[in-house]
Amino acid sequence: MATTPICAQLLGLSAAILSLLRPYGCEVVTRYAEVGGRVSLDCEIDHHFRYLYWQKKTELSAMFVNGLTNANELTILPEYINRSRVYEKNGTLELWDLKLSDTMHYTCDKVPEGGMASTLCTYHLIVTAEYTQPVLTTHSSDDGHLNVTCSSWGGSPRDDPQWRVFGEPNSTGLWKPMSAALQDPTDLYWNVTSTLTLICTQKLRISCAIGNVTSEELEICTQLFPFPLNVIVAIGVVAVLALGMLLCGIAQLLKRFCRDSNGQRARVEEMPLRTTPDPASSEETSFSSHVEGPREPV
Ligand SMILES: *[C@@H]1O[C@H](CO)[C@@H](O)[C@H](O)[C@H]1NC(C)=O
Ligand SMILES: *[C@@H]1O[C@H](CO)[C@@H](O)[C@H](O)[C@H]1NC(C)=O
Ligand SMILES: *[C@@H]1O[C@H](CO)[C@@H](O)[C@H](O)[C@H]1NC(C)=O
Ligand SMILES: *[C@@H]1O[C@H](CO)[C@@H](O)[C@H](O)[C@H]1NC(C)=O
Ligand SMILES: *[C@@H]1O[C@H](CO)[C@@H](O)[C@H](O)[C@H]1NC(C)=O
Ligand SMILES: *[C@@H]1O[C@H](CO)[C@@H](O)[C@H](O)[C@H]1NC(C)=O
Repeated sequence: MATTPICAQLLGLSAAILSLLRPYGCEVVTRYAEVGGRVSLDCEIDHHFRYLYWQKKTELSAMFVNGLTNANELTILPEYINRSRVYEKNGTLELWDLKLSDTMHYTCDKVPEGGMASTLCTYHLIVTAEYTQPVLTTHSSDDGHLNVTCSSWGGSPRDDPQWRVFGEPNSTGLWKPMSAALQDPTDLYWNVTSTLTLICTQKLRISCAIGNVTSEELEICTQLFPFPLNVIVAIGVVAVLALGMLLCGIAQLLKRFCRDSNGQRARVEEMPLRTTPDPASSEETSFSSHVEGPREPV
């Protein structure tokens, strides 16, 4: 008894899901197609129309591509002559010899007899071109950093290369890749690069991928610095400073010691003069005063 409404609900639900999955209706359907290839965009029609037409749309404009009429022929946009057709039977738009510039939103619109135009379906067509196999290059800088650059070109849409590192990436320093992309203004193909900057602390194997094309693996950091060069320079500077300070300290100490021993000598010279006025001993002390360095007081 209670199962019937549940079944009805389930049927209703699956019908709703099916209608969502259908490639027409009012949602935007995204379609991918390869450059030079062919694509079919379907539109459900009922033949009660005066015009049925496909347009390509940007945010600012809509341009007629191709269409059907029950009265007379529609003029096809020159760039779509010989590479598009709309099937009378079902309204499907077929495009071939696809170009990157065909990447656009397309709508199927219907104008009924004596009625207003309405959009039956919208597609987002993305024309793709496969990137070349990425190439890895390395540049090491004076401060001990290593740049690894992944380059690939001639693809679309724009995409960032993805890095794969085998080994322990955590201990190797800076791991934020810098990506850049350049688009050819006429044929719209992209060149992309990504640069990883790191400090070598261990041997690593590395590769990069764009789309499903992967570079060859590269072994990096094969010659290791125990420390990055800037650390070595810093240690060197500190060592020189410390040595300098040490030498200054020793010089000061020596100076003070010399002054002290001079004072002692002076006292030594005075004492014999006062207690024993012996010229021989005084000569001996004055002779001894020529001897450099510390000496025991007499
Ligand atoms: C379309 O193809 C026909 C027959 O191959 C050719 O005569 C015509 O010049 C082509 N038109 C354009 C615009 O390419
Ligand atoms: C529309 O008609 C063409 C030509 O008969 C056919 O190739 C295409 O598959 C049809 N599309 C649909 C959605 O039926
Ligand atoms: C390494 O990459 C950084 C950032 O991408 C750049 O600023 C630096 O000039 C590069 N160094 C070398 C030696 O290529
Ligand atoms: C490496 O770093 C990730 C995230 O930063 C962390 O989850 C992971 O535990 C680290 N591994 C090692 C071996 O330190
Ligand atoms: C993309 O790279 C190719 C191959 O290196 C080069 O010939 C072309 O000029 C580059 N295009 C742009 C827009 O940089
Ligand atoms: C990459 O994927 C595309 C589409 O899925 C396929 O046509 C192509 O053959 C693949 N390329 C490689 C090198 O696997």
